[in-house]
Amino acid sequence: MIVSGSATQAFAAALARATGEPLGRVQYERFPDGELQVRVEDADIDRAVVVASTVSSDAHIELLQLQDAVREAGVDDVTTVLPYMGYARQDRAFRPGEPVSSRAVARAISTGTDRVLTVNPHEDRVCDYFDVPATSIDAASVLADPLPADLEDPLFLSPDEGAIDLAETVRDAYGRGATDYFVKERDYDTGEIEIEPNDATCDGRDVVLTDDIIATGSTMSESVAVLNDRGAARVYVSCVHPLLASNAVTKLSAAGVEAIYGTDTIERSVSDVSVAPVVAEKLP
Ligand code: R5P
Repeated sequence: MIVSGSATQAFAAALARATGEPLGRVQYERFPDGELQVRVEDADIDRAVVVASTVSSDAHIELLQLQDAVREAGVDDVTTVLPYMGYARQDRAFRPGEPVSSRAVARAISTGTDRVLTVNPHEDRVCDYFDVPATSIDAASVLADPLPADLEDPLFLSPDEGAIDLAETVRDAYGRGATDYFVKERDYDTGEIEIEPNDATCDGRDVVLTDDIIATGSTMSESVAVLNDRGAARVYVSCVHPLLASNAVTKLSAAGVEAIYGTDTIERSVSDVSVAPVVAEKLP
């Protein structure tokens, strides 16, 4: 049975369709003091696949509650699917006194499950922080699906070297085009992004910017500005996890992007393409 967190219901439904597993009915409630409560309404569950993108602190708590609720209902075998793992980017202590937040949440999540599957975490090494077997699933190839078929001399570009594998995966799935990457510097005190362009030729080309996450949209909008200066034709931005915090959509639209494409690991208006079929293949 697929048991979903409140923020991941469409993904869970897609996973249920892809696997043929029944989709559990869950009530999401809140006590007057603000504390959360979930209730899994199905009995006789053999095995549970708990699905939750941990996009907020509430989503983290809800996930722990769902894991506990299915154990309480007598389920022996629990798989946890994190389509998007929150706090994954905080995978080391960047400055003295900071926690390794992804390790802290991984340990908590491990207590209620037999295994974890997560989709394109910022770095695969985050899987080592779980106390149960954890697998990273690369689903970036689906990002080729919504791209127009008529891209002109396409360049698949990542805003930093760390995301070049994603750009290559999308290019391979699209079937033609070149790949390259910019160099990104982030000021951790101000949060400001600086993009160091390389010598990629962009004039008249269609460019597909690809990254794992769009959060504030600063990385992508700074990259789009460089591409505009270089005479790129159409610019598409594409990411696995469309977090799109605050004014990211207007920031990107104002920068002149042709379209924003994301997957359903986070449910947003741009979540055009589902990674549920890819996850379904990896479920035990
Ligand atoms: C970090 O290196 C990630 O790959 C993304 O580039 C980053 O999280 C995007 O953040 P933002 O949209 O806030 O610039």
